[in-house]
Amino acid sequence: MVLLGRSGSGKSTLLNLLGAMDRPCAGTIRMGDIELTALDEPGRTRFRRRHLGFIFQAYNLIPTLSARENVALPLSLNGLADGDVEALLAELGLAGRGGAYPDQLSGGEQQRVAIARALAHRPQLILADEPTGNLDAQTSAQVLALLAQACRDKGQTLVMATHSEDALRHADRALQLRQGTLHPL
Ligand SMILES: Nc1ncnc2c1ncn2[C@@H]1O[C@H](COP(=O)(O)OP(=O)(O)OP(=O)(O)O)[C@@H](O)[C@H]1O
Ligand SMILES: [Mg+2]
Repeated sequence: MVLLGRSGSGKSTLLNLLGAMDRPCAGTIRMGDIELTALDEPGRTRFRRRHLGFIFQAYNLIPTLSARENVALPLSLNGLADGDVEALLAELGLAGRGGAYPDQLSGGEQQRVAIARALAHRPQLILADEPTGNLDAQTSAQVLALLAQACRDKGQTLVMATHSEDALRHADRALQLRQGTLHPL
């Protein structure tokens, strides 16, 4: 699903609420059987670790970990083997870059590491905040196709805030956030 809306309309805020990173002042948020708004902080942390992959607008990579270690982190937090990390990096055009640290990578490369990290543990829900904002047209198309494919093949749900027309074409649903309300496009 694609989430549209002008700058400042609240896309990042909504994604942070859906990802149990923020709490709403009022109302309830539910994902499947889980009522996010009823969870305490450790419960929210467990929810995020298990079920969620978040691609932040500002990447949020851990600077002291290499690209490979950043991608492997959600796997080790979930007690999973990290066999697929190199393949995932390669799929995102980062073959051979696994040993680089975030400050040695370009903005677009960091964004792709962040995308690999969000996909690594195959979460049910992927929340992506302008994931192609710093990518050239060709890399952007590649990343969108990969995200769309992950949803189809692995039954994952993707909610992506974006301004990209290209992303709209991949989406099965598009909603626009206007003055605090979601409107079908
Ligand atoms: N931590 C915060 N505390 C108070 N207000 C905030 C906070 N973060 C964002 N806002 C405000 O909430 C509104 C929505 O911000 P948000 O970041 O969700 O917009 P956005 O749609 O993601 O914009 P962009 O396309 O520029 O990323 C803005 O008016 C912003 O100034
Ligand atoms: Mg935003």
